[in-house]
Amino acid sequence: MDKFIIKGGRRLVGEVEISGAKNAAVAIIPAVILSDEPCVLENVPAISDVNISMRILREMGAEVTPLSATSYRIDATKIEKCCVPYETARKMRASYYFLGALLGKFGKARVSMPGGCPLGDRPIDQHLKAFAALGAEYKVDQGMIDLTSEKLTGNQIFLDVVSVGATMNAMLAAVKAEGLTILENAAKEPHIVDLANFLNSMGANIMGAGTDVIKIRGVKSLRGATYAVIPDQIEAGTFMVAAAATNGNVLIKNVIPKHLESITKKLEKIGVNIEQFDDSIRVSVDGPLVKTSIKTTPHPGFPTDMQPQIATLLTLAEGTSIVTEGVWEQRFRYVDELRRMGADISVDGKVAVIEGTGKLMGAPVKACDLRAGAALIIAGLAANGITEIEDIFHIERGYDCMEGKLRALGADIEKKSFPDEAVASEKKKAITA
Ligand code: EPU
Repeated sequence: MDKFIIKGGRRLVGEVEISGAKNAAVAIIPAVILSDEPCVLENVPAISDVNISMRILREMGAEVTPLSATSYRIDATKIEKCCVPYETARKMRASYYFLGALLGKFGKARVSMPGGCPLGDRPIDQHLKAFAALGAEYKVDQGMIDLTSEKLTGNQIFLDVVSVGATMNAMLAAVKAEGLTILENAAKEPHIVDLANFLNSMGANIMGAGTDVIKIRGVKSLRGATYAVIPDQIEAGTFMVAAAATNGNVLIKNVIPKHLESITKKLEKIGVNIEQFDDSIRVSVDGPLVKTSIKTTPHPGFPTDMQPQIATLLTLAEGTSIVTEGVWEQRFRYVDELRRMGADISVDGKVAVIEGTGKLMGAPVKACDLRAGAALIIAGLAANGITEIEDIFHIERGYDCMEGKLRALGADIEKKSFPDEAVASEKKKAITA
């Protein structure tokens, strides 16, 4: 088992380069299946969710050739199987994008119910509703979702909830369906626009991505394309908060400042200085951090994927802050871990009340999901003393070399491997002590 060991209290200073966006990459990689020619993807983050996506493609018969650490040539024309088994699908929520891509290309798909971060109930009824509206039949059998269709035909689809996954899956399935699909109440996140741009670069006809009505006119075939994934909005936001939490001064490069607006505005309210440039942002602190109220909502609101990180920052601010989670049922599971580090947070349902104590103390903690893990890293960087973070595989699902990037900014963080037996005996000692 690997852990991050952080000696807190060092200011982050310097420059950091943001990687490609996880939540765009995990949809764009399956989208290659729709192309009748090989594609080249660039600015792909080196994270385990990408590795799993590539493994799924290979297992289905695609040829995946790394061209560099961040680019791949993918030839999905050789796919023979339309099935993503439980063993791989359960490791990653985004395996559901193989449903839309396989259905759109072959008219059928068999994919295990997806895994991913435990954030409460994560239904996929809206994905299935969209597939059905296009003419597919589905059944769930032995934990596998089976989709079949004689022919996909464009239709009007109204999503009952704003869903990133259902929006992208509907686009994947509709891109080659005959006629016009009108997708209403669509999600507007930057990764939705990125997927639409990639599909359009292959010859698709998608209009309105980034608004709540997306129109997709079906095309007969898609050609190969070379495409660079957008920078990761949440990785950038995480480094912005980490810089603020350590009273640092960091230039965050390879970002799209427009995508960071809601995060920037909140950080400014908290007392953080932000300077924006064309494709970078400087974050610094020269005064006290102050309380604020935040509610997470779909884009362009404050992103739920930044909620644990900003809540951690607010434990260091003066006054009482209120954080309301507006997307996921259970996104405060990290709070118990922060309390172990001295945070004063009470949670009632979807609302957390944070009494800023101005300081945190190092402690052994456990990441319960990806962004919770990022929050614990931020807490460890700001805390007095040593923080040991367990279950860092959650963090590695979505952050490209987080510890290396932090070390280059002056953090004292290392990844240490502990043989499982040693961990078990350590745990036993802790229990019997
Ligand atoms: N929902 C339904 N039915 C559906 C789909 C969603 O009721 O069929 C509900 C969900 O329960 C939730 C809300 O709609 O309450 C929004 O869910 P959404 O479908 O937008 O989430 P997702 O597509 O499963 C993606 C990201 C998440 C991110 C959310 C919200 C990927 C792979 N995951 O999930 O990212 O939190 O959108 O922005 O893109 C993360 O990166 O840490 C992460 C969890």
